[in-house]
Order: sequence, then structure tokens, then C-alpha cells
Amino acid sequence: MIGLLAGLFAIMASYAAAGPDREGSTSISLPSPETSGGMPLAWTLQNRQAAKDFLPGSIKLQHLAQLLWAAQGETDRSSARRTAPSFNNLYPLSVYVLVGDVTQLSQGFYKYLPKEHALTHISLDDWREPLARSLREQWIADAPVVLIFTGNYDLAARRLGKSGARYVDIELGHAVQNLYLQATALHVGAIFFATFDNKKIIELLTFPSQELPVGIMPVGPIP
Ligand SMILES: Cc1cc2nc3c(=O)[nH]c(=O)nc-3n(C[C@H](O)[C@H](O)[C@H](O)COP(=O)(O)O)c2cc1C
Repeated sequence: MIGLLAGLFAIMASYAAAGPDREGSTSISLPSPETSGGMPLAWTLQNRQAAKDFLPGSIKLQHLAQLLWAAQGETDRSSARRTAPSFNNLYPLSVYVLVGDVTQLSQGFYKYLPKEHALTHISLDDWREPLARSLREQWIADAPVVLIFTGNYDLAARRLGKSGARYVDIELGHAVQNLYLQATALHVGAIFFATFDNKKIIELLTFPSQELPVGIMPVGPIP
């Protein structure tokens, strides 16, 4: 009996901790990122590739957390510097997560909070099937995770004028390459998509009005 209770406690403790975030909705703390070790950088550069022939199965919460950190996570609390650079520390990108099959995480739609290294829950709905239909890429319906990058072009234009859009696009490239390299190091498959009808994606997934979807990245296990 004591063993059973200890086991249950260990399982509960290993679950992502939940608590209210700054906006008042429930946020889910993610496992801390590994900030040292792992595969050598040159090896990940040599082996990076887009992958979409996913095996059935889940993505570990630890791996999802590491991928999100690699894309937009904070590296220094005092300066709020992130893993991917941003001109004048503007940070116009956000990362959203459609969760289908991630260990210790319910299905649904989430937003990554870089400062807290947490997810905030937006919806319990599983939007992968309609997203796959909209993209005409049916295999996406079975991807355990789909990441969606948005760009705040209004913010960039206010601070940088006409060049703002260019900076958002360049920063997206930095974040996506970080994610690819981290996925390679973890032996997780990922592929970046930019060919989609923005209007359809906005109709399907609700983003703040100033944010536009700029990239979609399904993630899954690979052989
Ligand atoms: C800016 C950009 C947009 C892309 N958009 C799509 C896309 O809409 N659909 C798709 O299947 N692949 C897309 N890709 C993935 C490329 O097709 C893929 O990276 C290419 O085949 C090269 O393979 P590699 O990444 O393994 O080197 C995109 C890649 C980039 C860099």
C-alpha cells in the first residue's frame, strides 16, 4: 500500500505543475531546459533535416519544453534575452502549440510563455484534423505536436517603421533554425511550413488580433 501511494505521488510530482499566470488563466510550468551537454553543434548542423514521416507515438513533455525553449526561451532573466536574437529586444514572435499526444499534457491549444517557461491553456479542442484539411496535408492530423509561430507586425512597424516586417521574417528564420537544431539533437522530427492561407488559419485558431501566423511546424517521433 505504501509502495502504491509512493508510486502515485511520484507520478503526480512528475506532472507539469499548474498555477495562475500573469494574465489570470491557468499556466503549466514546463520542465527546465537542459542548458549544457547534448549533441555537439557540428553534429546537429551536419544531421539537420526536415522530417515528416513520423512514427506513431507521443512526444515527451521534456522534449516539447526543450524545443520551445530553443525557439524562444529566455536565457537570462535580468535582460530577458532569448535563445533567438531580436532587434532591440523587440521579440515580435510567439509560439503556439497544438498538443495531440504529449506525455503528461492534455490535448489542446496552448501558448508558450518565454518568461515563465510555461504554457498557457487556450482551448481543450484538438484542431489538428481541421488544420490538416486546411493545409491539404492529411498526415498532420496524426502529428503528436504542431507548433504555430505568429508575428506581431504591428509592434514591429510601430518600433521599426517600414522595415518592421523584414525584421519579423528574419527573426522567424533564426527561431526555426534553433528549433530544427534542437529537434535534431533530441532525435525528434520536425518540418517547417510557410505555404498556407493565413485567413483560413486565423478562422480556425484564435490569435490576438495583432498577431499573424507566419509558420507551422509539425513535430513527431522519427525512426
Ligand atoms: C521558408 C520555408 C518555407 C517552407 N515551406 C514549406 C511548405 O509550405 N511545405 C513543405 O512541405 N515544406 C516547406 N518547407 C520545407 C522545405 O521544403 C524543406 O526544408 C526542403 O525540402 C529542404 O529540406 P531540408 O530542410 O531537409 O534541408 C519550407 C522551408 C522553408 C525554408
